[in-house]
Amino acid sequence: MANEIVKDTSVLLTEKRMFEPGNEVIEKANVKNWKAEREKGKDLEAYWGEKAENFHWFEKWNKVLDESEKPFYKWFTGGKTNITYNAVDRWINTAKRNQVAILYVNERGDEKKITYYELYKEVNKLANGLKRLGVKKGDRVGIYLPMSPELPVSLLACAKIGAMHSAVFAGFSEGALAERLNDAEAKILITADGTYRKGSVINLKNIADEAFLQCPIIETMIVVKHCGNEVNMSDLSGKDIWYDNLIEGEPSECEPEKMDAEDPLYILYTSGSTGKPKGVLHTTGGYMVGTATTLKTVFDIHDGDLWWCSADIGWVTGHSYIVYAPLVLGTTTVVYEGAPDYPDPGTWWKIIEKYGVTQFYTAPTAIRHLMRFGDKFPNRYDLSTLRLLGTVGEPINPEAWMWYYKNVGKEKLPIMDTWWQTETGTFMISPIPVSPLKPGSATKPLPGIEAEVVDKEGNRVPVGKGGHLIIKTPWPAMLRTLYKNPDRYVETYWNVIPGGVYTAGDIAREDEDGYFWIQGRSDDVLQIAGHRIGTSEVESAFVSHDAVAEAAVIGKPDPVRYETIKAFLILKEGKKLTPDLMTELKKQVRHELGALAVIGEMVQVDILPKTRSGKIMRRVLRAREKGEDEGDISTLVE
Ligand code: PRX
Repeated sequence: MANEIVKDTSVLLTEKRMFEPGNEVIEKANVKNWKAEREKGKDLEAYWGEKAENFHWFEKWNKVLDESEKPFYKWFTGGKTNITYNAVDRWINTAKRNQVAILYVNERGDEKKITYYELYKEVNKLANGLKRLGVKKGDRVGIYLPMSPELPVSLLACAKIGAMHSAVFAGFSEGALAERLNDAEAKILITADGTYRKGSVINLKNIADEAFLQCPIIETMIVVKHCGNEVNMSDLSGKDIWYDNLIEGEPSECEPEKMDAEDPLYILYTSGSTGKPKGVLHTTGGYMVGTATTLKTVFDIHDGDLWWCSADIGWVTGHSYIVYAPLVLGTTTVVYEGAPDYPDPGTWWKIIEKYGVTQFYTAPTAIRHLMRFGDKFPNRYDLSTLRLLGTVGEPINPEAWMWYYKNVGKEKLPIMDTWWQTETGTFMISPIPVSPLKPGSATKPLPGIEAEVVDKEGNRVPVGKGGHLIIKTPWPAMLRTLYKNPDRYVETYWNVIPGGVYTAGDIAREDEDGYFWIQGRSDDVLQIAGHRIGTSEVESAFVSHDAVAEAAVIGKPDPVRYETIKAFLILKEGKKLTPDLMTELKKQVRHELGALAVIGEMVQVDILPKTRSGKIMRRVLRAREKGEDEGDISTLVE
């Protein structure tokens, strides 16, 4: 089973194959010398200061890095810019004016090409429409949209006027949506009638309406007509407005808000090991410099490229690398809506052939899924326009890496296995095209990033030994805080390991060549098909059902999704975990969280292992599951 390879760390560490880049890759590469660039990156201020010169600033910064209030680091202080101005406006007086900025394609084969000039007008109209609804700089706008063109447009329109967007992945259900919108105190929600998924249309407006009932702060819901399915707009309070009606007649010019480099750009919620989802806050200047620089370095973006990141914009991967970075670099970015295997498992390869995609970036879970259908699908299409491949989201097992390398990369294309997080904003540990690759390793920290594997006391662990992955120095796109919760920011990331370092929450190993092998989370966070889900969120979804007294969940290895949920349930007096109850519980969790919370197994138990203070010891459950000695379980990270 593929996933067992990932979990069995001895296999990863005995993986000795090394793949060198071909001459064509080296000749074209934006950065030709990996080692030299990493040396250059050691002078943080000089390195990032030089990179920042590539972008437009209304006023230049006075200081590249301000560490005076660490861990509340500031970047490019005194600088004034606007990320939408950089992503859209600045291209319209250049040769890129009529170049396609966004290529929207869906599983039904529909397409829409939006040029930079068209994007400029659309963004401005929505920005003006939002202003008309009273949205001002610093306000939060909730976004619950499918992968339709209006999703990137909405992000860009908010950023243009300095409103913070808070997008929620459209696979989340109303409970999860409402919780996030309430925390962000969003007063507007942009949603749509529906989304296409595996041949059917999912009505998003219904879900948004349910969430609205739990969100007293939301005043207006802007509804995009995307699928043309019927939705209920008859609300008497006047809260619903069609997107088209809102922007109709709005001017196609809108002055960009001159944002301080440290003004907030967006909030994006992610799961932690305990409690509610965390509102990761990203700011403007450093995020722009970090995302665009890393995309250019790692995926070697050149004029004329067609970049495709298959993630959803509702996650950080889409924010950084479908919307902001590619557009700030003036490239063409693909926005794909639908499943990877509909109408058949050749869909993605067909799109690559049809449009001539040059760089393709996806998740290991998608590769493992498509792998099951065999080689015939990728081999049926001409994939020769591709120059580089990439993955993100969870460790990629060497078997899936090799399949991707052989069948999609034709044994020529380097695979950029990028390790990063919602919090980091950008790739952190990743090869660049000229790096020698080892299947399953994200290789080394990027230039300007200093990472290490340490024990609980912060001492570097010996080669090959597991430890906590930490980042030792600040980087421009780092999260600045957790929204409305600075204490939790300090506690979660900076007070875990001594030495003022950022703790990622991952277990990693470094090999004798200094290559990093990410082994998975060290905390109670699940990775299901590339989606990060907190155990406590799933547990509260279970206990919201009448029959459940207590619940504890852990990750259950899965050959395709990496993990699914295994739930240990204490049921109320006299209840039995019958097949009917299991179906109900699945429904309940789906209702509370969304279809992304995939349950692999449920078992009824009488007691759960707990600490003296009553905290569930999921580590014990995990150890039992693997047949390990419970006493030894801490050895994995120490
Ligand atoms: O455990 C790591 C895993 O995904 C986590 C971050 O999840 P999220 O914030 O949702 O962002 C995902 C996309 C950036 C990390 O803590 N992860 C991400 N990339 C990799 C990875 N694990 C191994 N290899 C990767 N390339």
